[in-house]
Amino acid sequence: MSQLFSPLKIKDVTFRNRIGVSPMCQYSSENGYATDWHMVHLGSRAVGGAGLIIAEATGVSPEGRITPGCAGLWEDGQIEPLIPINAFIKQHGAVPAIQIAHAGRKAGAARPWDGGTHLKIEDGGWQNIGPTDQAFDDTRIWRAPVAMDLAEIKRVQKAFADAAVRSLEAGYELLEIHSAHGYLLHSFCTPLVNTRTDEYGGDLHGRSRMLRETVAAVREVWPENLPLAVRLSASDWVAEGNQIGENVQIAIWLKELGVDIIDCSAGGATPLSRTALSGVVTDQIELADQIRAEAGIATMAVGGITEASHAEAIIAEGKADFALLARELLRDPYWPYHAAMELGIDKRQVLPEPNAFFVG
Ligand SMILES: Cc1cc2nc3c(=O)[nH]c(=O)nc-3n(C[C@H](O)[C@H](O)[C@H](O)COP(=O)(O)O)c2cc1C
Repeated sequence: MSQLFSPLKIKDVTFRNRIGVSPMCQYSSENGYATDWHMVHLGSRAVGGAGLIIAEATGVSPEGRITPGCAGLWEDGQIEPLIPINAFIKQHGAVPAIQIAHAGRKAGAARPWDGGTHLKIEDGGWQNIGPTDQAFDDTRIWRAPVAMDLAEIKRVQKAFADAAVRSLEAGYELLEIHSAHGYLLHSFCTPLVNTRTDEYGGDLHGRSRMLRETVAAVREVWPENLPLAVRLSASDWVAEGNQIGENVQIAIWLKELGVDIIDCSAGGATPLSRTALSGVVTDQIELADQIRAEAGIATMAVGGITEASHAEAIIAEGKADFALLARELLRDPYWPYHAAMELGIDKRQVLPEPNAFFVG
């Protein structure tokens, strides 16, 4: 029996299988508002058979977006266009989820296909913020952030909680907090960026305070019966950075705060770190395995998963509870259906009736 296609219940939410769409920025929002593109992008992957659809990094404040085209949930009007998208995803058997995010010192850049570098203010960029005033680099993500004071920290934590409330109103059933890839919450956690000397810096407990307080604020408003996930950069891939051991400890603290799942990505803190998109290496899956075993919490594995047999093995060997795919699901929104055929699963488990009736 396939483990990849076995249902899973976490809190009051049942996932039909363990295949998840990894969050992917679409750079196709208008002032943070979802467009028809999002209905097609997310909806087609629900029709394709995924059990979990995680919508892209969604800014909790305007300056928390990576680019001007990124999604947002900083005002109530942004809820409305998301409601039919989530209803459609549910109608076709998948669980709609969202990743709420603040891009920190990396915010205010051009879309990747427009170069991805920081934009000048007159070209549509904006002032970024971070744990310190150090820029990411000199040439690409070059703008020096304003180092956040206590009032700024509290403002951003409240923005995360407010975005969580809006996420619920929009119909999401799983909420993920983005603390990976060098964006704001991860940049506080890693010693590669956070050199603060106040209570938000110093040792691992101090550096993770921003994340822990944000999670606590979100858990207060996100219903107890719905799952809460956090995406970590589970290794910085740099000797002076956080290793898997530090992230196991963070996962233990997050579990105590009511987090249900750790989504295990990696990298992205500085130009020296590997990025989350590094080739087709699959070593991040071992990070999910270790966090699951040592922190005793459900995990999502991601990075370089393209084969049904590989995804099946990750779940069957107990390395993770979900296999997330990003680029392979861009290539093929029907990947879950194709995986089901390969693993001998009834097509009706993954395809809606108007498709299942006609195809083998
Ligand atoms: C177009 C694109 C957009 C992405 N946007 C996000 C994002 O919004 N949030 C995030 O945590 N990761 C983002 N990622 C990283 C993916 O979620 C995933 O972790 C990474 O692509 C590795 O998985 P893969 O090998 O299956 O592509 C993005 C990746 C791609 C290709």
